[in-house]
Amino acid sequence: MYVCVCNGYTDGEIRNAVREGGVSTAEEAFLSLGNGFCCGTCKDCASDLVAAELPNRRILAAE
Ligand code: FES
Repeated sequence: MYVCVCNGYTDGEIRNAVREGGVSTAEEAFLSLGNGFCCGTCKDCASDLVAAELPNRRILAAE
């Protein structure tokens, strides 16, 4: 489902940004997908999604 109408981001894209991209906030997830928040209407929903996905986050090793 679409979470962010302004950017066209879906819940799957946001969850994947957490799981595979290693981000830990909605702001980081959005930026990793290309754009930050615009109107901000989706911010609470996106933050809830990120928080729910954090236990599945892949920790990126420092090189
Ligand atoms: S709906 Fe996501 S920034 Fe507007």
